[in-house]
Amino acid sequence: MKKIVIAIDGYSSCGKSTTAKLVAAELGYAYIDTGAMYRAVTLYFLEHHVSLTNPKEVKDALDNIDITFHYNPKAKRNEVFLNGLNVEDEIRKMYISNQVSEVSVVKEVRRAMVAQQQKMGRKRGVVMDGRDIGTAVFPDAEVKIFMTADVDTRARRRQDELLAKKQLINLDEIRANLQKRDLIDSTRAESPLRRADDAFLLDTSHMTIDEQVEFVLNKVTSRIFNG
Ligand code: DC
Repeated sequence: MKKIVIAIDGYSSCGKSTTAKLVAAELGYAYIDTGAMYRAVTLYFLEHHVSLTNPKEVKDALDNIDITFHYNPKAKRNEVFLNGLNVEDEIRKMYISNQVSEVSVVKEVRRAMVAQQQKMGRKRGVVMDGRDIGTAVFPDAEVKIFMTADVDTRARRRQDELLAKKQLINLDEIRANLQKRDLIDSTRAESPLRRADDAFLLDTSHMTIDEQVEFVLNKVTSRIFNG
């Protein structure tokens, strides 16, 4: 069967990665979490005290960053590695969430990540989630989904996710972080978060994960069979 690219974009914590992962598993496609890549870059920049306003420092750092994904069969998930080190858990911590949007604004960072993402999806057969997949990384993606949900629902879901990782964070702090990231992500100059004209809108405020997955799979089926 013809392999396609499925682009899932949208606001922070509205279920993009959970949905994308399940859709990929159902289709036997690769799943690429592009947010994890920006988070890994943020971790490297923080650890190496890279100044975002110093283009040479940014360029040198990017030249030294190698990001890969490896499937962990025990955890049944793709995990992100930064220069050979598993950073999957570290990059989900709040101190990274608090800095990642500022790092993602930097033009050189975006260019490097977008180029790598295009390479990862060049053979098609991928589900990629992020903020600019349907607009900048794969404007020719066969199926584009733009996900959203009301901010309180998103904050509660995020709190549950963090709690599952034994991080107890106050709901107001999470809500403020989501709103701040949404604002930075959607107002930056370089490939801001926006719905592509041909993306299907999916509001997950009152949907279960199964319903979200079904919505995407229906769009995929109709695209593959009806063109
Ligand atoms: O999906 P996430 O919440 O893990 O993403 C973390 C941040 O990375 C998000 O606030 C903005 C940035 N990002 C981006 O700028 N472009 C992408 N394609 C994916 C994420």
